[in-house]
This record gives sequence, structure tokens and C-alpha cells, in this order.
Amino acid sequence: MKEEALRKLLEDMSLEEKVYQLVQYQGANYAEDAALTGALEQDHITRRGLELAGSTLCIWGADKLRKIQNACMAAQPHHIPMLFMLDVIHGHRTAFPCPLGLAATFSTELVEEGAAVAARESAADGIHVTFAPMADLCRDARWGRCMESSGEDTYLNGQMAAAMVRGFQGADLHSPERIAACVKHFAGYGAAEAGRDYQNVELSEHTLREYYLTGYQAAIDAGAKMVMSAYHTYNGIPCTGNRWLLKDILRGELGFDGLLISDYRSVGEMVPHGYCEDYAQAARAAMEAGVDVDMEGRSYAGNLQKLVEDGLVPMERVDEAVWRVLKLKNDLGLFEDPYHGASEERSQQVQLCPAHRAAARKAAAESAVLLKNEGILPLQPGKIAFIGPYARHRDLRSAWSFSARAEDCVSLEEGAKASPELSGWQLRFASGCTMLDNHTRLAIGRYESSDFGEENQALLREAEEAAQWADTVVLCLGEHRLQSGEAASRVSLHLPEIQQKLLDRVLALNPNTAVLVFSGRPLVLEAESRAKALLACWLPGSEGGPGIVDVLTGKVCPGGKLPMSFPCHEGQLPMSYSSYSTGRPASLTPEMDYASRYLDCGNEPLYPFGYGLSYTGFSLTPTCLSSREMRKGETITAWTELTNTGKVTGTEVVQLYLRDLAGSRVRPVKALKGFRKISLAPGETARVEFTITDEMLRFYTGENQWASEPGQFQVMLGTDSRVTEGSCFLLKE
Ligand code: BGC
Repeated sequence: MKEEALRKLLEDMSLEEKVYQLVQYQGANYAEDAALTGALEQDHITRRGLELAGSTLCIWGADKLRKIQNACMAAQPHHIPMLFMLDVIHGHRTAFPCPLGLAATFSTELVEEGAAVAARESAADGIHVTFAPMADLCRDARWGRCMESSGEDTYLNGQMAAAMVRGFQGADLHSPERIAACVKHFAGYGAAEAGRDYQNVELSEHTLREYYLTGYQAAIDAGAKMVMSAYHTYNGIPCTGNRWLLKDILRGELGFDGLLISDYRSVGEMVPHGYCEDYAQAARAAMEAGVDVDMEGRSYAGNLQKLVEDGLVPMERVDEAVWRVLKLKNDLGLFEDPYHGASEERSQQVQLCPAHRAAARKAAAESAVLLKNEGILPLQPGKIAFIGPYARHRDLRSAWSFSARAEDCVSLEEGAKASPELSGWQLRFASGCTMLDNHTRLAIGRYESSDFGEENQALLREAEEAAQWADTVVLCLGEHRLQSGEAASRVSLHLPEIQQKLLDRVLALNPNTAVLVFSGRPLVLEAESRAKALLACWLPGSEGGPGIVDVLTGKVCPGGKLPMSFPCHEGQLPMSYSSYSTGRPASLTPEMDYASRYLDCGNEPLYPFGYGLSYTGFSLTPTCLSSREMRKGETITAWTELTNTGKVTGTEVVQLYLRDLAGSRVRPVKALKGFRKISLAPGETARVEFTITDEMLRFYTGENQWASEPGQFQVMLGTDSRVTEGSCFLLKE
């Protein structure tokens, strides 16, 4: 539709129609003829409200959504199509690894491809918008939603968020293969105090700007059509009513001019927060802060019309918000094709098709991070016992896989049995124990705890036999998929006790054991690291079984790198490799009692950011620079030579870290500024180059501006964040 016609439409709409364009209801409220489903009628939703609502969330299916679209459009005075939104977080029907796992690939290409697959599948099912990427930087593994993040690093976070936006949206949103992206949760949600979800966030403005905002900025720069506000408070004000955050920063400084939606009921939640007295006040505060759409709330629906009639919310503000809704619908081409190309036939063709499964398998294999290997991986021919709750478990999705199904996942057992590399080998499979202890309860009562006592005794006996029989044990342990995700914060990051008992027993019976750990977050793996090999598998998605088997057999040489540090102890959290030195760094003052350290634990993580081993070996020559001086506005080149010193072809991620030796605000001991993933045959060498730009040297200075400051910089090229050797250059005015 031409912009002029869209403007005319806005002018013609009644206030009631406009208000409902800003209301989003749960899809579960809709029967196919847009009549209310019984269950939620008590929530005071009316049939008219449902018909007039501008968008809905959390339903999918081409036929179903076409019917709802038809019914709503027919009932609407201006026949405006509705927007269908869904959390398509890491795949739709074909689940990819959870976002933290995807980040471990250190491959923006793979991440972009995964998002493109998700867009194709979900668009065929009638979806127009995904609530992704989540660009919340996270340095605290207690927070269950780190599973949905790309981890602890500012640069990696931005790279992955932008790649997802490109993958979802492509170049043309009219395409029936593309959906709009909604970056969330603005802002700083990943820094929840003590890792407890929805909890207050205390970040200085400098830290927020320099480390936390950049991920959202990258997604916005990549063209994200929507932004979602967050649940928590920042500076004592809930983000959804925070004018400074949403107007001055998001709109004013980050330059976002798209549609801003609240998080699920976060407008109304300003009442229990103690920021607003009632929903009417909450609606007014959110509108004033610039929130355009009230997600599954009851605040705009019941109150906004009156607030406008009473002169408490200006009509221009409503028009501005409605305009953004209409604009997004138009950008998606919904006025021409309200179904955006969705059809059952297309769904059948694309969903879980071989090409999508192959992409998910590749991503699962490349996301795996080899943490330890004393020569037992890849597996050698012989008797192999796959033991542990993940050996046969199908459900390799995360808590954020609404539309992917457990029955479409391929387990390790199925993957191993179908693997040509393992054909002719003797394989056994034994669960060993239940996934959870009797006493482990999952959030929101989604899992019934029961007495696993007898069942576990029988499972353990079977596992003991298999462990004694095998040449090599692959011990498949991990979190339950609902132990990470929203509202899944934990103070203990150990595996369930029942699994630890299994670990002890198996290691005692067969020291030739490789441990696989499935999880949505970093765990404390000291006990597991006693095994000869340790592989982090994340929650690897629909093709998790075959993908991980590809790594075990050596068909894929592991190349994943940790996007988040794995701590030695929960008490170290939050943590990041990119921390400040302090005036008394433990490393420089070993003789000093009064240094920045713990009495009972080191400062370092068990496995650091950027770390991950391979089946081959790599060496790097010392970092070289094209010049020891650089003027602002100029660039210099840093390079190293990477050689595959081992016996198989493998992939290494060369990482560029910079340190600004002194600044008007203290600078982190190092910060990632670039990475390259390089594949080399045995004996092969490649020169790996990075261009150092002035932009990489900028930070939020003591003068409260983004600038670089003259002085010495250290450049470190390495294969994980522990690198300390490097070369220095002087930045001059
Ligand atoms: C989450 C969002 C999500 C929304 C809709 C909320 O609880 O915080 O990330 O997009 O629900 O499902």
C-alpha cells in the first residue's frame, strides 16, 4: 500500500479501532472464527476486542491463522490484517541448538542460516514476527535465560544479534520466506541481580552503555523492525515505563524508529512493581515512555480510550503508535497478502525438510565445545557404551521451543545406530538413571516430581554392566531442558545428584570415559572434568543426536568455543574474562595478602570464554603489527600465522583481543574485537589478518562520549581469552 493510502487509513479509523491496534492478545483466546475460546472469558476479553486487536501471539498453523485472519478482517470496519507473532527462538519445527549453543559456533554464517530456516518454516505456518533475537548480555550463569543469549561478550553478542536479524528478515520482508525480528529485552535484562529472573538491575550508566546496549544497537543497525521492553527496573523505574531508556536512549540515541512492544503483561506489572497504582496509570506511563503495543496486557484495552478522551494521553501519541503498527503490516505486505504466503502445502514442503535437518545437524556439530580430551575422542572401533539419561532421550529442545516437537528430534541412540561411521561396531545404550532427582523441582510446576527410587536401581545395574563391558563409555549427562530458560534461575549449577552418583560409579568401573554435558548454560563441571574427555553439547535441537555423533566419530572435528565462562564455583558469579584489573590484581601481586581474590577459590573459571579444543593441534606465531603507531582515522593491520600441527583437518577460531592500557575510565584487561574461523588441512598454514580501526578503540569515556583516547594499546591474537602475549602500538591524535 502506498504511504498516502496508509495515512488516509489512519485518519479514517475511530479511536476504538486505534486503541485495539495497540492491543495484543494470546492466541489461545481465539477460536478459528475469532470467537472467544471459553477458557479465558473471565479475563474480560470481549469478542469485539479480539476482532479489533492489532496482533496476537503464540499460535501458528497456516489454515488456522488464515481462518482467524479472515474472521477478524471481515469483522473490522477497515478490514485491517492482524499480525501473528511467536517466539521462534532457535528454529520453528526444525530446532537448532539453543542460542548459547549457536553462539559457540562462532559462525555468523551458521547463525544467519539458522534464522533464515526458522523464518521460512514459521512464515509458512502464518507467522509474521518473531520475538528474537535476545540481545541481553549475560555474565551470570545463574540466570536461566543465558540459554537464550549469546553469552558474556559485548562484541560476540552484537555479531550474533545482527546475524539473526539478517537471517530472519533478509533483504525483502514482502518475501513469504521472511519474518520481522523483534530484539529484546530493552535494556540490560541479563544483569538481573544475583541471577534471579525479573529482578532489579543495577548497572552504572557507563556499564550499560558500553557493554550492554551495543547488542541491541547492532540488531537495530541490522534493521530489526521491532524492539521489546523488559520486565525489570533500571534506575528504580520499570523499563516498560522508563522514558529515559525508551525515549532518550532507544529512540533518541540508538535511532530506533520501529515498533516498540512491551514484554508479556509488563505494562500491567508496573502495578505490583509499585510504580503505578492501577492499570490505567500503567497504560499512561507506558504510552508516555513510548511503548506502542501492550503485549497480552489488560492495560491499554480497558483504559487507553478513556485516557485519551480525558486528555491524559494525547491523540498524537496514539496516532504515532498506530502508525508504527500499520507501517509494519505494510512492510510485510499484509495489505496485499494478509497471509504472507502461508499455506499448509508450503508448510509440508519446508518444515523439517532434509535441507533444514542437514543445516540443524551441522549447527549441532559445530556448536559442541571440546573441553578436555586425553586421547579418547574421536571414538576408536570397539565396544562403545552410551550411558546416561541423555543416551536415549529424544527431547533435545530448549524450554523456548514452542513449535518444535520432541518427537521430531533424533536422539543420540538413533543418531549412533544410523551412523555409517559406527556401523559394525558394538554399541550398547543404557539410561543409567532418571534425568532428575526425586527432589528436583522445575519452575512453574511443569514437571511432576515422583519417587524414582526403584526405577533408578534397575537403571544403575544396567549401566554398571554396560560400563564394565565397554572399551569406551560415552556418558551422556545434563540439565533437564526446563532447568534453563525463563524463570529458571538456579543457585546450584551442578548436575542433579542422581547423575553425579552415576558419574562416580561409571568412572570407577571404566576410566575410559568421555562425558557429554547437555545444558542451556555454563555448569560447574569440576567433578565431570575428572573424566578423560568432556564435551559441552548445549541443548542441540532436532538433529542433536546425529550432530553430536558426528563429533564423537570424528566426521566433524570439534571447533566450538565457549561464549560464556564455565565457573569453578557459583560464588564467582557474575564473571567475565573482560573484567577490570583492579588496583590490586591477584595475578600481579601473588605475594600480597590484600589482593583482589577469594580465600577459598581462584579467580579464574574452570573453562574460559573463547576456549575449545580440537582433534588436531594448532600453533600461532606471535602477533605482528603493520605499524607501532596509528593516527586517529587511520588503520593498522594485525596478523599471525596459524598452522595445523596435527593429523586431521580442523577448524580454529583466531580471536583478536585489545587492551587500552590507560583511559579516562579504566579499561578491561582485554576485550574481543574480532574473530575468524579458519579451516586447515594437516600441515597447512594460513595468515590471519585483522584490520584495527579507530572505531574498535572507542569507549564511553570519562567525558561521557564515545571516543578513542591517545595512548598505548596492546593487541593479542589467540585461540581463547587466556591469551596474554601481544604487541603494542601507540594511538596518536
Ligand atoms: C518473555 C519474552 C517472550 C514473551 C512472549 C515473555 O515472558 O520474557 O521473551 O517473547 O514472553 O512469549
